[in-house]
Amino acid sequence: MEPITVKDLRFRISIPAEEIKKRIAELAAQISSDLKGRNPLFLAVLNGSFMFAADLMRGITTPCEISFVRLSSYTGTESTGTVHELIGLNEDLTGRTVVIIEDIVDSGLTMRELLSMLKTKNPADVRIASLLVKPGNLKVKLDIPYCCFHIPNDFIVGYGLDYDGYGRNLPDIYTLVKE
Ligand code: IMP
Ligand code: MG
Repeated sequence: MEPITVKDLRFRISIPAEEIKKRIAELAAQISSDLKGRNPLFLAVLNGSFMFAADLMRGITTPCEISFVRLSSYTGTESTGTVHELIGLNEDLTGRTVVIIEDIVDSGLTMRELLSMLKTKNPADVRIASLLVKPGNLKVKLDIPYCCFHIPNDFIVGYGLDYDGYGRNLPDIYTLVKE
């Protein structure tokens, strides 16, 4: 397969759209069965998860809600480094079964921060559903019960994920070509 250019870098297909679709359908079936009758609230983390969230939700067969949140980063004090603010969460999480929908867990630091923010809102349960996980980059211990693909530590784009804002529209997932 010929490489493509996204902005100024070359990428090659690593996970074709059909494979993504098949795996997401399996994951949706598993989540539907696990959370049947629990009225789950899905929280999709923008921007990266928009395609994954749309396809995953089409396969969820138990009554549920979905909401979209965003982590805005701003530079904190020198000791705290980059900190995030959670934007767009209007639902009451008390007693709810929450499923976070993420595009990718890399170091896991963003996810750890998000989990701790959500846990202060007294949910019954918070589970992670991530399209991709780079196990070799994980810096924190995370329980990720729902994951479509484990991938190597290479930079990827497509299917919602971006390189400097570009490539989110690509239906397949592409890996950076190292030259
Ligand atoms: P973490 O805090 O290191 O787990 O970073 C997670 C965030 O980094 C993801 O939500 C993505 O926005 C971004 N990210 C990590 N790896 C990649 C990649 O290979 N391509 C595009 N974005 C990535
Ligand atoms: Mg993200």
